[in-house]
Amino acid sequence: MKAIVYTRYGGPDVLHLADVPTPAAGDRQILIKVRAAEATKSDCELRSFRYAVRWLWLPLRIAFGITRPRRRILGGYFAGEVVSVGGRVTSFAPGDRVYGSAGLRLGAYGEYIVLPEDAAIACKPRNMTFAEAAAVPLGGLNALHFVQRASIKPGEQVLINGAGGSIGAHAIQLAHSMGAQVTAVDHGIKQDLVRRLGADDFIDYTIDDVTTTGRTFDVIFDMVPGSPYRRLIGMLQPGGRYLNGNPRLSVLLRSALTTRLTDKTVTVAFAPETKQALATITEMIEAQKIQSIVDRIYPMSQAVAAHRRVETEQRQGAVVITIGEPDEPAEP
Ligand SMILES: NC(=O)c1ccc[n+]([C@@H]2O[C@H](COP(=O)([O-])OP(=O)(O)OC[C@H]3O[C@@H](n4cnc5c(N)ncnc54)[C@H](OP(=O)(O)O)[C@@H]3O)[C@@H](O)[C@H]2O)c1
Repeated sequence: MKAIVYTRYGGPDVLHLADVPTPAAGDRQILIKVRAAEATKSDCELRSFRYAVRWLWLPLRIAFGITRPRRRILGGYFAGEVVSVGGRVTSFAPGDRVYGSAGLRLGAYGEYIVLPEDAAIACKPRNMTFAEAAAVPLGGLNALHFVQRASIKPGEQVLINGAGGSIGAHAIQLAHSMGAQVTAVDHGIKQDLVRRLGADDFIDYTIDDVTTTGRTFDVIFDMVPGSPYRRLIGMLQPGGRYLNGNPRLSVLLRSALTTRLTDKTVTVAFAPETKQALATITEMIEAQKIQSIVDRIYPMSQAVAAHRRVETEQRQGAVVITIGEPDEPAEP
């Protein structure tokens, strides 16, 4: 099969197309023909091994390969079609159109991927193309996890820092659908996008510092590495919740103290991506409570350009790579 591979860490140019062996499904596994994969910030970080949150470098380098990448095919989030299933698989059959997360196994930048039946995979929302569906699981699963942990109530004031990114854009939609008043913080070029997704208010971080506005919030959802922890905690209402999806080591250490010693709660957990959570997301998509936000779609041969687009940070939504055949229209 064809795959976008990389054999050394570096800039987008290390990505190239290669022929690699097609995997086969084991007893409890499914073989999926990938049709689209999101090119994510995480893929770019794994490719370059540059992390804004520095403590992640060592554990990830040990896991992914000290001198060169152990897993040559990137891609954590995808949509595709089941081609074959192992003898003990009961919940999927050949022909099923699916989407989901490959988790740390990666591999969605290849024409075929094998995943365990119990991975975070679900039937593709019928009202989405493969490209649109591939743009959902990263943002949807991570945002759902944090929004659920925040137990948002209707009318609460929610601040989303990094709101125009893959995770933030889904968090806006989820918080808005729960009846929250959402304030989004991101670069000014993303204002129209985040307002369209349900943000009531917008702060351009390149012009204004949200921590000096004098405003307070019930929930702060923060995806920006290196944001000012103490000042953000100071913006919480009594009983407020701060959720950080990209914590520095110092935030990890201080979070327990804040939760124990104050009336505020800090959550820094990484999202467990589950089948049940993806099923919830699918229901919300089919009920038109969540939409997919695709910025640009690139063919496999332009993976380098796709990663450049993610890294220039000018994108309005997800960058998607179509794998193999062209996409097909969604059902109405
Ligand atoms: N906790 C978890 O489970 C988990 C899971 C997946 C990923 N992550 C990590 O979380 C991070 C975000 O993921 P993502 O995929 O949503 O990234 P993303 O798509 O790049 O989104 C980040 C957003 O934050 C904006 N931003 C940058 N600096 C800002 C600032 N000072 N104030 C406000 N907004 C700012 C960026 O805008 P610009 O265009 O201006 O840069 C961008 O729109 C990544 O580093 C990723 O590795 C965590």
